[in-house]
Amino acid sequence: MYRTKTCGELRLSDAGSIVTLAGWVQRSRKMGGMTFVDMRDRYGVTQVVFNNESNAALCEQANHLGREYVIQVTGEVAERSSKNANLPTGEIEIIATELNILNKSDVPPFTIEDDTDGGDDIRMKYRYLDLRRPAIRRNLELRHKMAFEIRRYLDDKGFIEVETPVLIKSTPEGARDFVVPSRMNPGEFYALPQSPQTFKQLLMVSGFDRYFQIVKCFRDEDLRADRQPEFTQIDCEMSFVQQEDVLQMFEGLVKHIFKYVKDIDFTEPFPRMTWADAMKYYGSDKPDTRFEMKFVEIKDLTVGKGFAVLDDAPYVGAICAKGCANYTRKQLDQLTDFVKRPQIGAKGLMWVKLEEDGSIKSSVSKFYTEEELRTWAYRCEATKGDLILILAGETMKTRKQLCELRLEMGSRMGLRDPQKFSCLWVIDFPLFEWDDETQRYYAMHHPFTSPNPDDIDKLDSATGDVRATAYDMVVNGNELGGGSIRIHDAELQNKMFSLLGLTQEDAQYKFGFLMNAFKYGAPPHGGLAFGFDRFVSILAGLDSIRDVIAFPKNNSGRDVMIDAPSTIDQSQLDELALAILPTNKD
Ligand code: AMO
Repeated sequence: MYRTKTCGELRLSDAGSIVTLAGWVQRSRKMGGMTFVDMRDRYGVTQVVFNNESNAALCEQANHLGREYVIQVTGEVAERSSKNANLPTGEIEIIATELNILNKSDVPPFTIEDDTDGGDDIRMKYRYLDLRRPAIRRNLELRHKMAFEIRRYLDDKGFIEVETPVLIKSTPEGARDFVVPSRMNPGEFYALPQSPQTFKQLLMVSGFDRYFQIVKCFRDEDLRADRQPEFTQIDCEMSFVQQEDVLQMFEGLVKHIFKYVKDIDFTEPFPRMTWADAMKYYGSDKPDTRFEMKFVEIKDLTVGKGFAVLDDAPYVGAICAKGCANYTRKQLDQLTDFVKRPQIGAKGLMWVKLEEDGSIKSSVSKFYTEEELRTWAYRCEATKGDLILILAGETMKTRKQLCELRLEMGSRMGLRDPQKFSCLWVIDFPLFEWDDETQRYYAMHHPFTSPNPDDIDKLDSATGDVRATAYDMVVNGNELGGGSIRIHDAELQNKMFSLLGLTQEDAQYKFGFLMNAFKYGAPPHGGLAFGFDRFVSILAGLDSIRDVIAFPKNNSGRDVMIDAPSTIDQSQLDELALAILPTNKD
């Protein structure tokens, strides 16, 4: 036996017992005639003491231990004279009588502790060392626990997990596909699934009724903190359901996991907000509802006073930052710079301050009387001590800018506590999204989403206004999941493809298999998929999903540890009948 106990389990009650531990040297220090070694394994850290007086040879051996050496220690558990209350094993130490070096280690490139000195790049290059750090290990433990419990919960509700293929057909509609050349079919390619969407629908045609899968998905899109090129979904589908059934079922799952992981009881149903309201009040289809600060439209109050910026703007929106009237010139300038950043793109920021002494100050007081400014304040429900921030311009663009400003103010005002959770459903998404560049409609969710039955007669006449039977679950401003009730009628599906600008031939080529399946008795069905990485990172209170993925990619889509992507041999290219064209890089 390499060990009788782990480095995380010994307590004062074990004092006097003889144990053997195995693990890594986290650090060692010499103090007088003693050498102290912190020994780490997956379960924790235990202090080991080598005493020069009682065993000089052993102590000498311990003095030569380097960081991350793998060792085996036998000794007696003893009460510590100076206890460490921050460590579960902090009341004891092991008085070593035997030391066995199982393996040496090079000096690691960063310290393997929660507070590491390693930057992001170096930690990713040596991710296997980074994963020894307790904080990252805990994230993966949480991920495991959640996956396990989700499977248990869904199994309990009669869902069965079915694996779907990873080499499929390329049907780029949402993001770009990753493609894989086929050696056996030269000139032809598989694609990696962006999601198992069409397969889960086919499983419904097969009668599987309640399907789920915790599954890798692949999307060749620009990366952000909450996006990876390969990520994991909790993918679900149900037959004979309407929107309400799906929302109930998966609200139940989310509540269950919150209770299980965080012991949080959501006793009320999650609020539901239409997409139109989300855009109107928060400028986003994933509003962070941990705090209010809703948008207030004041266009009608601002027109006709000779201020062209507001007169010409189709939209004037305000937010009220409670208690921020004491913002200095410098702080307001910072906010102005913030909204003018190219990623946000506002031309400027206007403000009104309701000072504590009852007076009113504003960046636009040249154009508006105090009385007029007070009508704005009244509409914004601003009172003494509050600051009103105003942006103006084209409606959708300005709402998005105001959304960024609202989130920034929320952060500055400490209203976005990662340990507070606010969940809601956003419903009634538009079915289509117009793209100016390509001058065509795209499916806002995906092409299999059914229109709201009340809007079917508008499909041709007012295409852009048609609502979808689609829904997203939003938590703290993150899109945790999304889904829809699907079209199960071949004719309506064809109509959808044609509105999306696909010819009959295109539709047949790309989705013929699904259209055919629909001819053989497709049940009404619908479902959703949660982003599993996002779910774990939200519950862990983290900003980036990278911290909950064992081996993530960096922002350029690279795995810097294995150095992928990489070139392949000419012989491999030849086998695949592929030639590489020169690129800008060359
Ligand atoms: P959707 O595209 O909305 O829907 O994806 C579902 C959820 O997956 C997560 N997600 C991602 N997570 C990390 N990195 C990414 N690149 C990434 N892209 C998406 C999000 C998102 O809410 N087939 C449909 C679902 C359905 O209709 O049933 C789908 O894939 O949390």
